[in-house]
Amino acid sequence: MKRQITFFSALLFSFLLQPEEVISFTFLGDHLCRHDDAVALLQFKEIFSISAYASCDHSYPKTTHWKADTDCCNWDGVTCHNLTGRVIGLDLSCGQLQGVIHPNSTLFHLSHLRCLNLTFNNFTGSRISHRFGSLKSLTHLNLSCSNFEGEVVSEISHLSNLISLDLSDNELLRYEPSNFDAMLQNLTHLRELSLWLVNISSELRVNFSSSLTYLDLSYTKIRGNLPSNVFHLPNMRVLRLGGNENLTISLPKLNCSISDSLRQLNLSRTNFSAALPDLIGCIGSLNSLDLGFYYLSYLNLSLNFLTGTIDQLPITPSLEYLDVSSNSLQGPIPSSICKASLLKILDLSTNNLSGPIPQCLGNFSQQLSLRFLKLNDNQLQGSVPRSLAHCEDLELLDLGNNEIDDKFPVWLEILSNLEVLILRSNYLSGTFPTTFSKGNSLCGFLS
Ligand SMILES: *[C@@H]1O[C@H](CO)[C@@H](O)[C@H](O)[C@H]1NC(C)=O
Ligand SMILES: *[C@@H]1O[C@H](CO)[C@@H](O)[C@H](O)[C@H]1NC(C)=O
Ligand SMILES: *[C@@H]1O[C@H](CO)[C@@H](O)[C@H](O)[C@H]1NC(C)=O
Ligand SMILES: *[C@@H]1O[C@H](CO)[C@@H](O)[C@H](O)[C@H]1NC(C)=O
Ligand SMILES: *[C@@H]1O[C@H](CO)[C@@H](O)[C@H](O)[C@H]1NC(C)=O
Ligand SMILES: *[C@@H]1O[C@H](CO)[C@@H](O)[C@H](O)[C@H]1NC(C)=O
Ligand SMILES: *[C@@H]1O[C@H](CO)[C@@H](O)[C@H](O)[C@H]1NC(C)=O
Ligand SMILES: *[C@@H]1O[C@H](CO)[C@@H](O)[C@H](O)[C@H]1NC(C)=O
Ligand SMILES: *[C@@H]1O[C@H](CO)[C@@H](O)[C@H](O)[C@H]1NC(C)=O
Ligand SMILES: *[C@@H]1O[C@H](CO)[C@@H](O)[C@H](O)[C@H]1NC(C)=O
Ligand SMILES: *[C@@H]1O[C@H](CO)[C@@H](O)[C@H](O)[C@H]1NC(C)=O
Ligand SMILES: *[C@@H]1O[C@H](CO)[C@@H](O)[C@H](O)[C@H]1NC(C)=O
Repeated sequence: MKRQITFFSALLFSFLLQPEEVISFTFLGDHLCRHDDAVALLQFKEIFSISAYASCDHSYPKTTHWKADTDCCNWDGVTCHNLTGRVIGLDLSCGQLQGVIHPNSTLFHLSHLRCLNLTFNNFTGSRISHRFGSLKSLTHLNLSCSNFEGEVVSEISHLSNLISLDLSDNELLRYEPSNFDAMLQNLTHLRELSLWLVNISSELRVNFSSSLTYLDLSYTKIRGNLPSNVFHLPNMRVLRLGGNENLTISLPKLNCSISDSLRQLNLSRTNFSAALPDLIGCIGSLNSLDLGFYYLSYLNLSLNFLTGTIDQLPITPSLEYLDVSSNSLQGPIPSSICKASLLKILDLSTNNLSGPIPQCLGNFSQQLSLRFLKLNDNQLQGSVPRSLAHCEDLELLDLGNNEIDDKFPVWLEILSNLEVLILRSNYLSGTFPTTFSKGNSLCGFLS
């Protein structure tokens, strides 16, 4: 009965198909799978050897149980359209495949594919050939971390249905500047674009599409100025541009009324020089922070040329990660930092901060969920706040190279998760207790 229903709905559906597709429409017994798709998949499988290369947690050879006499719609990693039987999804991520995908590969016969995920395999010697441009139905294409190399062809811009494109972590992959521009211009439905470590090596000349929610262009050698609309794309949630030291970010030139959608901003190690008050103009006024409009949880502005004080940073209650290390920030660490009660990673190291370390860091009332606290290489004074003993989750504490004047904080031994404690180059007195490391697995202790 079930099979009959499938048959009739398939028949009904076939009226909507192209004539040549109807002709090749065949049923293989109980199989939903189309014969030509099954053949294409089996031939595709044959070009690879199985090799446990992938740096995945759960990698296994996904294609070994693909057998000609079984329904390909039940094969590992294969998804079929439930009416036409066409293969519309192929997810061989972490599939232990090793081999070269040539332009003549039968992969490109699967013309109805909507989602293709080949990430975490070893396709050394493979290029992103023009044939990828023929998979016109693709909405999701994920070829990250698979050793693709050479130039990304211009035909990628023909995939006008793409919603998600991930070519990241293929460091021998590169873009011709005009192809990169064309792609940004043409793929107007793109919501996720991840290209970190791909060699783009050009200026950003095209505005980003307002449909983008996720953009990762870290370590792509992009340079020049950011497109003027980058900070107020209405749907952007994650923006990562770090590791592009020639990418100039100059706030006054940007209209940067950042949209409320932003959750993660990573501008680490760019050519970002600004006074923090300008950034506040960008990221939202203190008023809007107080009203809780702001949901930023990750902010990384490390390794730049920022000036100003910590209280000029957008310290929102939602912040979990704050790294502004290696800039030129001055003044004290304000106790307002403790408003960010979800903070797990706080890195203010290598600036010109002075004054005491705020007591509130470990206060019961405002206790932070801190795991990493790096305040090293500043001019901080006073004592190590006793309240830190309440930070039970603390794994790393680096207060080295400051002007802290205190007794050796023996009481820190209560922190059983502490693995790295660095206190060198301060004015600490007393001796290092031999009992200290018993309960802890301290691996980097320097006094
Ligand atoms: C990837 O495959 C190539 C040959 O295609 C081989 O030389 C290389 O060692 C493989 N890499 C890893 C990490 O297995
Ligand atoms: C086919 O799949 C769609 C979703 O992709 C689902 O809504 C529908 O119920 C399915 N039809 C049958 C007959 O299984
Ligand atoms: C596909 O192309 C490669 C490289 O040009 C060639 O070595 C291989 O024989 C071709 N395979 C088929 C089935 O034509
Ligand atoms: C494969 O990639 C797609 C799109 O990029 C993603 O939605 C899917 O979760 C990935 N599969 C796995 C197993 O992670
Ligand atoms: C943009 O997409 C359209 C439709 O797919 C295509 O005809 C055109 O050639 C594309 N432009 C570029 C520069 O790739
Ligand atoms: C691509 O697949 C990998 C591994 O499954 C996943 O971590 C990544 O998020 C996917 N990329 C996108 C854009 O979905
Ligand atoms: C990156 O691409 C540029 C321009 O195409 C090229 O000159 C450079 O050698 C490439 N760098 C690497 C590391 O491949
Ligand atoms: C980018 O957008 C801005 C306005 O948001 C506009 O002035 C500018 O001309 C656009 N640039 C390009 C290259 O389209
Ligand atoms: C930045 O520019 C310098 C000088 O042109 C060049 O040597 C360097 O490789 C560039 N760095 C990046 C990340 O593009
Ligand atoms: C932020 O960018 C830096 C590049 O300087 C990189 O090392 C770091 O892993 C990035 N963080 C995230 C979460 O992408
Ligand atoms: C960094 O930005 C400044 C302007 O803020 C500019 O003068 C300088 O040339 C830029 N440096 C690089 C390496 O792009
Ligand atoms: C800046 O961007 C905001 C949000 O998109 C917009 O409302 C405003 O008109 C822009 N201002 C200028 C001067 O372009």
